[in-house]
Amino acid sequence: MASKHKLRFIDLELQNLKQKNLYRELRYGTVSGSMITINSKELINLCSNDYLGIPTGKFRLRQLQSSSRLVSGNDESYRKFESKLAKHKSHQNSLIYPTGYMANLGSISAIAKKGDVILSDELNHASIIEACRLSDAKISIYKHNDMEDLKKKLKQTAKNKFVITEGIFSMDGDMSSLKQITEISEKSEAITIVDDAHGDFVKGNDGKGTPNHLGVAKKIDLYISSLSKGLGSFGGYVSSQNNVIDMCVNKSKSFIYTSALPSVLIEHSMKRFESDREKQRKKLERNVNHISKELKQIGFEIRSNTHIIPIIIGESKLAMTVGKFLFDNGVFAQPIRYPTVPINKARLRLSITAWLSNRDIERSLEVFEKAYRKFVINA
Ligand SMILES: Cc1ncc(COP(=O)(O)O)c(C=O)c1O
Repeated sequence: MASKHKLRFIDLELQNLKQKNLYRELRYGTVSGSMITINSKELINLCSNDYLGIPTGKFRLRQLQSSSRLVSGNDESYRKFESKLAKHKSHQNSLIYPTGYMANLGSISAIAKKGDVILSDELNHASIIEACRLSDAKISIYKHNDMEDLKKKLKQTAKNKFVITEGIFSMDGDMSSLKQITEISEKSEAITIVDDAHGDFVKGNDGKGTPNHLGVAKKIDLYISSLSKGLGSFGGYVSSQNNVIDMCVNKSKSFIYTSALPSVLIEHSMKRFESDREKQRKKLERNVNHISKELKQIGFEIRSNTHIIPIIIGESKLAMTVGKFLFDNGVFAQPIRYPTVPINKARLRLSITAWLSNRDIERSLEVFEKAYRKFVINA
């Protein structure tokens, strides 16, 4: 990692916790009935919240851990998958949270605090905005992907500076200018955080994500992602150097004070992670190219070059009308309105998947062509 010294303050805080006997460490275990096995030792489990102990045979699912990860919920499957995710990101370590939303809340508020400043892109996702608020750091919003504004705002003094951006913006489908952001951050000794919920598993070599795609993976200090998008599973995770992950274990309220994601979901994610993702990525790329090209040919103005393709309509009422027309003709493309996007920037947000067959695409394009003619949508 490029910027270890910037994160040295974390070691001091962790040391402080150890001195006060408040340091928390994860222990792995496997739950079975009333027992839990930790480090090959079978113990009676008096730490489960599975109060009714309903037999799992009925559900064909293995028993869930029913506890927080720092108590008895840290199933062995976590160790395996977190080490795979760390490798996937070329980071020292990773940590799974119950959702991507909670990964943002927990990790950002664990490392940023009062006296710090967070530079946040104006189009960042709601979970990033909430996380910044939770941290008590000063929040400074820079104009969307505007490097001059970022440079200007980074001039303010603060104990620690953080720059946070999405990798692929969820409502516009454009990529963050990560090459410039990491250069600017480096000059200002700022810590770079990327939420790549939409680029992870999709972009970059072997789906390593948007920073990898843009050649700056090593410069990202904290990487945040979701398992519910590219991987089509459920959960969220962060990856970083060891002390940052340690800090998350010790300080993330959305990690400490909630039940662990059930191991069946970890296993589900792992299976998908180990499947032939490359084949699916290629199919997705073909679908994106096909749809973008044809939508442009119909007359729509398509600016995105990713699998998130917004068709900007403008007024909310018209966006709803067009959305209904598509719906009535067998195509579901959700109209997105204020406050998710700015006023008068209502849009149909298409998210393209590898599920779509050529026939699905051709049928959708026919409906889009009709919609274009009927409503004369000028993006
Ligand atoms: C950029 C971004 N970050 C985080 C999340 C939250 O992820 P999850 O659905 O896993 O909570 C989303 C979900 O829409 C997102 O778009």
